[in-house]
Amino acid sequence: MSSYLIDESNSERLRTRNTWLNPLTEQALSGITFDSGMKCIDLGCGIGDMTCLLARKVMHSGSATGVDINSEFIRVAKKHAQSKSINNVYFTRCDVHNVAAADESFDFVFCRTVLMHLTRPLSVLHEMRRLAKVGGIVFVQEHDLASWYCKSFDKKCNKLFEYYCRLFNPYMGRSLVGLFKKAKFEDPEVQVQCHIVYRCEGDPTKAASKQAHLLNLEAMKSAILAKGYATISEIETVRRCWERFGERDSDIAIGPTMSVWARK
Ligand SMILES: C[S@@+](CC[C@H](N)C(=O)[O-])C[C@H]1O[C@@H](n2cnc3c(N)ncnc32)[C@H](O)[C@@H]1O
Repeated sequence: MSSYLIDESNSERLRTRNTWLNPLTEQALSGITFDSGMKCIDLGCGIGDMTCLLARKVMHSGSATGVDINSEFIRVAKKHAQSKSINNVYFTRCDVHNVAAADESFDFVFCRTVLMHLTRPLSVLHEMRRLAKVGGIVFVQEHDLASWYCKSFDKKCNKLFEYYCRLFNPYMGRSLVGLFKKAKFEDPEVQVQCHIVYRCEGDPTKAASKQAHLLNLEAMKSAILAKGYATISEIETVRRCWERFGERDSDIAIGPTMSVWARK
């Protein structure tokens, strides 16, 4: 069962978010050597951007498989891969807790911003370990939402981060090393990157960062209301504040994201 609380009916949300997140992930992956022929899997692949990136890294003799519980994302991901003529990529619908693949099938097992949404992240890490070949790499990237904050013209902008923290695991980033240890990975590597929303106007990547926060708020609205964390008018106030974010030169929002990986 998924405990996923985001309304993903607008796949533009992930596309917009990926505009700023993909470069951070690519940077985090740059320390890892990908050989042609490697087999990769992306758990909770969403619209498949990272699955396609992995497929490119391992060339035609290798492959990348993306799995996600959301069949619409699987459809979008397949279409996207076809449009880019990426032929060594496969997408299939399944739950990350129980992936339909044999033990030790993959050289690289990847998961990005999924664990913070789940109530049993350790069971997913065990599943990742099961899927990895001996000597293969397990790689997880997660936000540390409790460290996200902004300084802006209106303190209410920070309400958005409070909503993130109430709906998702706010400490997932900093918890990753401990989870890797519990899953019996001996010497995990750690990297921290920072996402900054600052001087957004006129720069497409930075403008996408701000737009992604607005789309997140929209996609979280039903869950915020259902859980009674805010009224519709309070959410509307936060949305208006974020629309004005960046009007002042000193407006800045900062969000750390952690990457942890280890060999099996
Ligand atoms: C925030 S999105 C991240 C998508 C992708 N990893 C990325 O970073 O672009 C979280 C993804 O996890 C998927 N998901 C949530 N719970 C899942 C589960 N139990 N099994 C498989 N996928 C799941 C959602 O459908 C969604 O695509």
